[in-house]
Amino acid sequence: MVSAGMPESVPRPLQSRPSAVPLTGTVAVPGDKSISHRALLFAALAVGESRISGLLEGEDVLRTAAALRALGAEVEREAEGNWRVWGCGVGGLAEPADVLDMGNSGTAARLLAGILAAQPFLSVLTGDASLRRRPMARVTEPLSASGARFWSRSGGRLPLAIQGASEPMALDCRLAVPSAQVKSALLLCGLHARGTTFVEEPVPTRDHSENLLRHFGATIAVEPAGGGRRIALAGQPELRAADVRVPGDPSSAAFPLVAALLVAGSRVRVSSVGLNPLRTGLFATLREMGASLAVENERQEAGEPVGDLVAEAGPLRGVTVPAERAPSMIDEYPILAVAAACARGTTRMLGLGELRVKESDRLAATAALLKANGVKVAIDGDALVVEGAGRPPGGGMVATHMDHRLAMSALVLGLAAKAPVTVDESRFIDTSFPGFAALLNRLCPPAGAIAAP
Ligand code: S3P
Repeated sequence: MVSAGMPESVPRPLQSRPSAVPLTGTVAVPGDKSISHRALLFAALAVGESRISGLLEGEDVLRTAAALRALGAEVEREAEGNWRVWGCGVGGLAEPADVLDMGNSGTAARLLAGILAAQPFLSVLTGDASLRRRPMARVTEPLSASGARFWSRSGGRLPLAIQGASEPMALDCRLAVPSAQVKSALLLCGLHARGTTFVEEPVPTRDHSENLLRHFGATIAVEPAGGGRRIALAGQPELRAADVRVPGDPSSAAFPLVAALLVAGSRVRVSSVGLNPLRTGLFATLREMGASLAVENERQEAGEPVGDLVAEAGPLRGVTVPAERAPSMIDEYPILAVAAACARGTTRMLGLGELRVKESDRLAATAALLKANGVKVAIDGDALVVEGAGRPPGGGMVATHMDHRLAMSALVLGLAAKAPVTVDESRFIDTSFPGFAALLNRLCPPAGAIAAP
């Protein structure tokens, strides 16, 4: 049985060497993190047995599974990636006997806060040092309109105590920040309220919650509103158990694909990747940079588009990435910055304010990652400006600040740079991409390129 829980003490540094051979082969990346959390949550709120295949068994998702068990749902692992959930129905969860520890996962904490706001009992959420630094007021403030009450540390930070509303009121909110986590928390709360909950987002963000709500039988309507969307969700439905096949995570696929683009002579296929258009901003940007990145076998699975991606190495040029694209590639800026460092010319990534409140301050940490490896980079307000000059020097030690995506981005840089790149800590990679180093090493046999320093 895989268990949630990550000791915070023993660091595990890792190093990647310039790859001596091109990267070649076909790989599958772990299941989509966003869809995995949501599949478990909606299955727990449905009546009856749902089966989930391809579930990401990373630490973040295991935290959601453990929390749902503590709330009374039956959540069982049957085989690798195959899980069974016996849901309690909307309104059927029970008071947890202890604090719910969400580890490193902002998605788990915020989505669960939406559910707990609508349960007639007290619960307490906490997390690791990274999660305890992240803002929760973005969910607790709009959720308060349901009648729930919240007590947190200063700045709205975890631990967070939630006294859920016994008769939650329907919400009518416009999101202050473009965040699928906040949107999903409000919808999850609205599921428990009488009447229709409305959520308006100024910019469209990933719509996995909307797609899965439909899949589990909720009545949900989505209309364009200004440049964004207005969502109407009918409250107190009886969600029906449903099976979900989780596609590969495009945010994880980004790492082997960018590695293939950067190491001369490489050609890598990543099969069965989720291609929801609200997640594919990185792939559009890489194509604008001149990347050879093809989609094959496009199909639909559980309401989501899926396909195989094939990347071939070649020269990249700097581009300007508009601020409006940020929600569709919000987790991909560290790896895009690595690609930009290996391109020729300047890449300007605009509108990155949200990166400051991710697993680390990703804006500062991404700039530091590149600087430590001899790349010219600047932060200009909310923009990141990278001067690409072909193959970067490398040779740096990167501080990863408990952030899985920084660690993986730095290790990809090491494959393409002139000298090895070391990360101070690699354990957090398991939050989203268990087996990351082994998967990349399989693409460059016999020796591989990533190992302990
Ligand atoms: C996620 C939404 C994004 C993303 C996170 C997962 C989700 O956060 O950064 O990794 O599953 O809804 P925001 O919506 O807060 O930007």
